[in-house]
Amino acid sequence: MTKYIAAIDQGTTSTRCMVFDHDGAVVSVAQMEHEQIFPKAGWVEHNPTEVWDNTRKVCAEALAKKDLQASDFAAVGITNQRETAVVWDKTTGEPVYNAIVWQDTRTDKICAELEALGGGADRYKEKVGLPLATYFSGPKVRWILDNVEGAREKAEAGDLLFGNMDTWVLWNMTGGTDGGIHVTDVTNASRTLLMDLATLSWDESIAADMKIPLSMLPEIKSSSEVYGEVRPRGVLSGVPIAGILGDQQAATFGQVCFEPGTAKNTYGTGNFLLLNTGEEKVLSKNGLLTTVCYKIGDNKPIYALEGSIAVTGSLVQWLRDNLGLIKDAPEIEDLAKGVEDNGDVYIVPAFSGLFAPHWRSDARGAIVGLTRFVNKGHIARAALEAVAFQSKEVVDAMNADSGVDLTELKVDGGMVVNDTLMQFQADLLNVPVIRPQINETTALGAAYAAGLAVGFWKDEDELRKQWAEDKRWDPQMDDADRDRLYAKWNKAVKRTLDWTT
Ligand code: G3P
Repeated sequence: MTKYIAAIDQGTTSTRCMVFDHDGAVVSVAQMEHEQIFPKAGWVEHNPTEVWDNTRKVCAEALAKKDLQASDFAAVGITNQRETAVVWDKTTGEPVYNAIVWQDTRTDKICAELEALGGGADRYKEKVGLPLATYFSGPKVRWILDNVEGAREKAEAGDLLFGNMDTWVLWNMTGGTDGGIHVTDVTNASRTLLMDLATLSWDESIAADMKIPLSMLPEIKSSSEVYGEVRPRGVLSGVPIAGILGDQQAATFGQVCFEPGTAKNTYGTGNFLLLNTGEEKVLSKNGLLTTVCYKIGDNKPIYALEGSIAVTGSLVQWLRDNLGLIKDAPEIEDLAKGVEDNGDVYIVPAFSGLFAPHWRSDARGAIVGLTRFVNKGHIARAALEAVAFQSKEVVDAMNADSGVDLTELKVDGGMVVNDTLMQFQADLLNVPVIRPQINETTALGAAYAAGLAVGFWKDEDELRKQWAEDKRWDPQMDDADRDRLYAKWNKAVKRTLDWTT
């Protein structure tokens, strides 16, 4: 009997395989980090071959830990860092260049050129829900075709394939050069700047503007259906791959945000707040993205408004790896708790420019308010506060767009173990912040999508019953303090703008 669903979570810093049982409980997990490659200021790359090797290894390890066989599994789901673009040769299976990561800002000139065609940054917004920004995949593909020798000729001859990490993993898992399938799901496709949100198909005129041959683009499918089987050799062989969701949409699904008006905020490398808007695609007037939330088989697509923040958890990593301020991530909370307040210090981590709601690729990070009084604790505290301030900007935009104020915030991701941060978040938003018992919502969401496709779970109602609250933080700050702190934050944000112009 098949007892489990495996979820592969190909994230920005690591790749994981998680095994879930029918109750949604984690049975086994294996994880490997991959190298973050920074060739120049503003550039961020991953080696796709390393990522694929790690994917195979974590799957093997997760199964071996509990002595599981392929026959124990009903399906596999894939979830992934979105927007990160890989281009590879379909005959050799070799990437023509490293994966260009979502945080990378090298495409700012390409975006400016596209803006200049008319319509500015919102040239494609009505169709694709996104502003022209370095964050998305389309301009990254264009950069590879323009800058890698011979790539454009090969692409035009139909020899190259493009994919986000879901597609790269799926193509390799289903056989690679030996019959690998070239498919993505609607949620990932909605992050390329190339998919029409209404028709859920590639928009030929945008692809032509970006000089991207349509033959490179994967076929767009729903988020929950059988795409193919794991290739005959190796672990999980023969198991159907039946779910794909971009990681933030997966977390929304794992948090069972199935009704319009429900939302979650994930605290990972960056922060991503998604609000389910149902079958209606709401175009933002306040700097949010319109994106596909999920599409289950033949059902209609469900849309979301999204506030994407590029740097939150990665700010803590930067304090650890680049500045050596802390030895490990948990130490940041100890340091922050050692001071009474932020000492009037603000960190605006605009390492990839500023994403939502500003969309300013010319911004760069700043630490402001420094005096001789300031110590490590204040810096640590300012870093945690930056995470919460950026989320407040996004929640304010969300409230303005929807016309209804959020009454509580469901949270997940690595940083939600940090009580100091979660309390400050509740204080700043002035609403309760709630963490679920199963915090692994990203992998769980992908498992849910795969499990629904093969009948492992019956319907969304069955999944809804698996969600349970673990902890809640209620707001305690008075209005005057909140206003004072937020006004200072806004002042600090202004200091980061226009840096690269
Ligand atoms: O849009 C980028 C997002 O999908 C990355 O998520 O969790 O890999 O940092 P994460």
